[in-house]
Amino acid sequence: MVFVFALAMIATLLAATQAAYSAEPAVDGKEIYKMNCASCHGEKGDGMGPVANALTIKPRDFTIGSYKIRSTPNGSLPSDEDLLRTIKMGMPGTSMIPWDILDEGQRKALLPVIKGFSKFFEDEKPEKAVKISKEIPYSKEAVAKGKEVYMKKGCWECHGEKGKGDGFKGDRLKDDWGNHIVPYDFTAGDSFKGGSSDKDIYLRFTTGMTGTPMPSYEDSISVEQRWYLVHFVKSLTKGEMKHGKSAKHGKPEAKK
Ligand code: HEC
Ligand code: HEC
Repeated sequence: MVFVFALAMIATLLAATQAAYSAEPAVDGKEIYKMNCASCHGEKGDGMGPVANALTIKPRDFTIGSYKIRSTPNGSLPSDEDLLRTIKMGMPGTSMIPWDILDEGQRKALLPVIKGFSKFFEDEKPEKAVKISKEIPYSKEAVAKGKEVYMKKGCWECHGEKGKGDGFKGDRLKDDWGNHIVPYDFTAGDSFKGGSSDKDIYLRFTTGMTGTPMPSYEDSISVEQRWYLVHFVKSLTKGEMKHGKSAKHGKPEAKK
């Protein structure tokens, strides 16, 4: 973990120095990608940059169009907003840092570059974002109902009864690239890869995280139950997270 963090720091420093030297940053997406992203994601976007070997959580391979953090349904490509959000906010707990040293225009210029690595973006359009139903507010009852859903729908099988990521299925999971992957430990606090607002968490289990064993429950958990589940999941994080208003945003079929 410390190692990964150190690498992330180096990446930030490198990028910061590069940014400092180009006084008038030309918005050339390819150039920005080469300078800031290729070290991990690879010149060809295949996730095989020189730094990738050293990382436990591997950089995304952009050539197959699989994205974890989406507001779009299971099986869909991510929207531009989804990609921009990830680039801006990063993925906590990984070496994918928030790229806030780049300005909005530079981050936008990266989109055609990333999408250009995969033919899927040529052939398909991302589907419309999943509708987020009106939030049922936090309450003790909502948390209790959420726990029932958590047990009944089998979240515990991977995430564990107490949410520690130690369910019986948890230690033999692999992602689509064959790497060992662990279910999120909800008790570890607030480092959700896709953000920790209520809406973010709602979207993660609604749309699933493509490329990982984390399923989509859009067809099997009702919109009311989803809010109960959000409040229950948050209740597991030792009260480190606040309930309430959330920031705007967002494979396998789950069992019914
Ligand atoms: C120090 C290594 C590193 C650098 C540099 C880096 N990334 Fe990442 N990136 C990662 C890792 C690791 C992941 C995968 C995290 C995971 O799957 O949990 C990732 C994932 C992503 C994703 C996938 C999000 C999803 O929904 O699955 C996008 C998009 C992305 N990076 C864009 C960029 C862009 C654009 C840059 C340059 C501005 C960049 N990255 C630079 C390490 C890096
Ligand atoms: C088959 C195993 C499995 C099941 C069942 C499962 N998950 Fe997950 N879940 C995972 C894995 C693996 C990850 C980590 C993915 C990653 O880090 O890329 C994850 C991550 C998450 C995250 C973290 C998202 C983030 O932004 O980091 C949330 C929230 C979550 N799961 C909620 C749920 C809920 C709620 C259920 C039940 C409705 C559920 N999961 C069922 C395997 C599972």
